[in-house]
Amino acid sequence: MAPKNAAFVIAVDGPAASGKGTVASRLAKLYGYPMLDTGLLYRAVGMRLLNADGDLDDAIAAEAAARGLELAELEMPEVRTRQAGEAASRVAVHPGVRAALFDLQRDFALREPGSVIDGRDIGTVIAPEAPAKLFVTASPEVRADRRWKQLVGQGEAVTFDEILADIRKRDERDGGRASAPMTQAPDAVLLDTSEMTIEQAFDAARRIVETARARWGNPKG
Ligand code: DC
Repeated sequence: MAPKNAAFVIAVDGPAASGKGTVASRLAKLYGYPMLDTGLLYRAVGMRLLNADGDLDDAIAAEAAARGLELAELEMPEVRTRQAGEAASRVAVHPGVRAALFDLQRDFALREPGSVIDGRDIGTVIAPEAPAKLFVTASPEVRADRRWKQLVGQGEAVTFDEILADIRKRDERDGGRASAPMTQAPDAVLLDTSEMTIEQAFDAARRIVETARARWGNPKG
């Protein structure tokens, strides 16, 4: 019997700089699935507002920016900056922004034969029926070190301590809101990459997805 949902969604959630982006893009390549990095949506909304001299705390303006978002804006290099990450985390607290970005993400999740979606609330809100769910995490120090090296590689002048402070602030903001608490879905598998290389993290992720895929293809097995 074919499963009711014909799309094999791989939901990859977790905090900032946990390694979820790398794991997600490697999985997408392995399975030949399209990938959506939902952090880019929030980053692009934040940059839209900043570029228009808008106020990140203005819920109405932020929602309007989200509704006017065009996918080409996700390609702009500025969405990958530290400033965009901070702005994203601030606009993401507005329920109107999350609602405005819902359909786009949901449509992606319905694509057959499958997709990889990375974010914070994919396994809980966007695709709660996803057959494969990972919650990728790592200690704040390890995440700060990874993000710091990435930003320095992009030419940003930042210190490790500044990035560690950013990470802690973001965890608090991302995890502490009622509209989309960043929590692990009950059926997500936790993957702590603190002590892992990229290769090891990918290998562990692949095994989690293979187990989910076998179960999905054989619901009674
Ligand atoms: O994954 P990232 O660091 O690019 O995400 C940037 C911010 O966007 C993050 O701090 C919180 C927000 N975000 C969100 O609220 N929900 C998502 N699905 C993805 C990102």
